[in-house]
Amino acid sequence: MSSRLDAARPETAPAGTSRFRPAVHFTARDTWLNDPNGLVFYDGLYHLFFQNNPYGNVWGNMSWGHATSRDLLHWTEHPVAIACDETEDIFSGSVVVDHGNTSGFGTANEPALVAIYTSAYKAAAEHSGTQAQSLAYSTDAGMTWRKYEGNPVLTRNSANFRDPKVFRYQGDQGACWVMVAVEAQHQKVVFYRSEDLKSWEFLSEFGPANADAGEWECPDLFPLAVNGDPDNIKWVLIVNINPGAVAGGSGGQYFIGHFDGARFLPDAGSLAAPAGLAALPDPQAGSAALQQCLWLDWGRDCYASVSFSNAPDDRRIIIGWMNNWDYANELPTAPWRSSMTLAREVRLTAVNGSARLIQQPVLTELCAGEELPTAKDQMNADTFELRSSALRLPDAVPGSAQIIETEILPGSAERLDFRLFGSSDGSEGTILSYNTTSAQLILDRRQSGNTCFHGKFASVESAPVDLENGVLKLLIVVDHCSVEVFVQGGKVVLTDLIFPETENPENWLSVEGGSATILKLAVSALT
Ligand code: FRU
Repeated sequence: MSSRLDAARPETAPAGTSRFRPAVHFTARDTWLNDPNGLVFYDGLYHLFFQNNPYGNVWGNMSWGHATSRDLLHWTEHPVAIACDETEDIFSGSVVVDHGNTSGFGTANEPALVAIYTSAYKAAAEHSGTQAQSLAYSTDAGMTWRKYEGNPVLTRNSANFRDPKVFRYQGDQGACWVMVAVEAQHQKVVFYRSEDLKSWEFLSEFGPANADAGEWECPDLFPLAVNGDPDNIKWVLIVNINPGAVAGGSGGQYFIGHFDGARFLPDAGSLAAPAGLAALPDPQAGSAALQQCLWLDWGRDCYASVSFSNAPDDRRIIIGWMNNWDYANELPTAPWRSSMTLAREVRLTAVNGSARLIQQPVLTELCAGEELPTAKDQMNADTFELRSSALRLPDAVPGSAQIIETEILPGSAERLDFRLFGSSDGSEGTILSYNTTSAQLILDRRQSGNTCFHGKFASVESAPVDLENGVLKLLIVVDHCSVEVFVQGGKVVLTDLIFPETENPENWLSVEGGSATILKLAVSALT
């Protein structure tokens, strides 16, 4: 296997050039990736560092790969940023812009970018068998990195202390750095503070709470204004969990609450089970108990989501790893394996009096909102009825990369079914259904194409979705090997990988048991 450590090779990842390679979701050119790391915006560029095996396309030799983008859709891959060595693997972490030069790594005028990562120590290391937090820094806007000679900067003599996310906290007493990390096997988020990123003081811990049947990993903590009201700030604590997520295997949950600079206090409304679900009768995938937790994504393939630091205009943008540890190493792609989700802007909105996250994919400029011409001509109206029949959606572009926007009044219909990536004989397809009786949105990939590469891949996911003024609003993004569904303006999101076998995929919409009114149906290209 060739190595991406060879800086002489071309830097641009060839998006869309091999079977299943997505058009706009980031993939490494010819190697393995997992978690997004060190998401940071600096000097006009979004930097995506990521867990990478520079020597192969399964997990191992963990290092930080690197890519940059100006629009969060088209990425350029760069040489490995922080490489593993004989003493340590470089596990997940974050990057901050040290504007005040608190670390002394930069200057007052030219701040350093500082990476806070987990050293997963190997047998040859002094701290062998433990995970501790370390620093690396860049004084050339993120392109090259040097490890700090005083590493590690924070250790607990623990084998599972990892995934530091650091941010600048501005409190009444002034500003400081705050780190959130995990004691993964104890289902705890741990909080520390620092003046200079080098010396850390313990503050508090949170957990277990809500979903706790697996390891807690990759936490994040940030404030957001509810409905944009600056007088109503809430804190969002993201906690990824593997296994034990709502759809089975890996997934991301979140809590809403208050952070006072030392301690996170969850709102009662964001807790299904204050001491963790393990105490409840049925913490199984899809169970009522798990459905009561707050989930970033209800599909199988969105994990390790964390947010950008230093993003412009105070935007809060997250990216997840579009995969699931249940089968991650066996996805049928080569030479690359695994991709990121779309970048998603998150906001808080009040739902029945409680703050909830909404997510919008960062592709607004691509949503042309072009109405479906054939259907409109056919009906000669802005809206049209669909009754016990199927409607073929036009392909915005050949090659299965498109955005479908729709608003539907299910009316008397019992079910609406989208068949995505369908074969012309109807035998293959990914079915996205809304069941009006159970008020569940269901994503079924059992007939989506190649599902047999792993016993846990064929699956059906569901999420509770209430109609709003009788309307179901969907934004569906398909990109060669994935389906991401943003429901009711992003209140619910479902992400699933698929590996279609059909050569000429078709997308269909059909209605069962009554008639539905299509208020909007628009398809645009994803390029
Ligand atoms: C999450 C994770 C992290 C760890 C990294 C190792 O997917 O297990 O907890 O830092 O992956 O690659």
